[in-house]
Amino acid sequence: MKKLFVALMLAALPLLSFAAEHGGPELEKVDIDVSDKAAMQDGLRTFTNYCMGCHSAKFQRYERVADDLGIPHEVMLSHSVFTGAKIGDHMNIGMQPADAKTWFGAAPPDLTLVARVRGTDWLYGYLKSFYVDPARPYGVNNRVFPNVGMPNVLVGLQGKQVVGCKQIQVVEDGKKQYDPLTGTPLTHEACDQLTIETPGALTDEQFDEKVKNLVTFLAYSANPVKLQHQRIGTYVLLYLAFFFVFAYLLKREYWKDVH
Ligand code: HEC
Repeated sequence: MKKLFVALMLAALPLLSFAAEHGGPELEKVDIDVSDKAAMQDGLRTFTNYCMGCHSAKFQRYERVADDLGIPHEVMLSHSVFTGAKIGDHMNIGMQPADAKTWFGAAPPDLTLVARVRGTDWLYGYLKSFYVDPARPYGVNNRVFPNVGMPNVLVGLQGKQVVGCKQIQVVEDGKKQYDPLTGTPLTHEACDQLTIETPGALTDEQFDEKVKNLVTFLAYSANPVKLQHQRIGTYVLLYLAFFFVFAYLLKREYWKDVH
């Protein structure tokens, strides 16, 4: 029994994952659900429209993504493939790394596995942390990735972000605080914060959702078999539970004669 317990504990170990350590600002936690197909479809749309000009996802095939996300092949080809690629092709791009290096100072890395390398909180924080900085070649810098070579490609959706002072709601013990009499949020002024100076096409909430969906797609892309793993894992545990009953009965049967 003890052995079985230890074996079960060992089997459960990989379920625990540890966030990668990082320096820099504290990252907001974002809850990513890689079974949310609508979110991933929206993320794919953003990815092909806004990211694939510079970044490939070359370990993925369009066909596999379409099948996993429940997108018909014709729709995938007409809405998400702009390079004339075929449905079975890898998600490559035309930009040459050497050219990119001259233009941006660094080649845009392939993003298929970036969610594994950086983590989803990091990606979410990074995509929301571009701000105006005239000292940089493209006029933007990033809080999470200082002096990054990438321009703020989502600026049209998010709006122009600058470093300044803004009112922030007081939070105590993880709870937002409100004035007990009027019910209005209690705020305090904080400086050195990222704040939207000129609004973009989306509201703050809509933009957060857009970025979250994009990160959900990247999380799926970095681990496309995760869903299958979860399903198989459930069957394995059910099987173990079922098998345990018979093993136990058999043991009782054998030991009956020994005593
Ligand atoms: C105009 C070209 C361009 C576009 C479009 C672009 N990027 Fe980038 N991106 C870059 C460059 C260049 C770098 C490398 C920056 C560096 O190392 O300084 C980069 C770096 C990154 C990194 C950091 C990778 C790492 O681990 O170092 C991530 C993540 C990223 N981009 C995500 C995105 C996403 C998501 C989109 C679409 C919303 C996007 N990029 C669109 C040029 C671009």
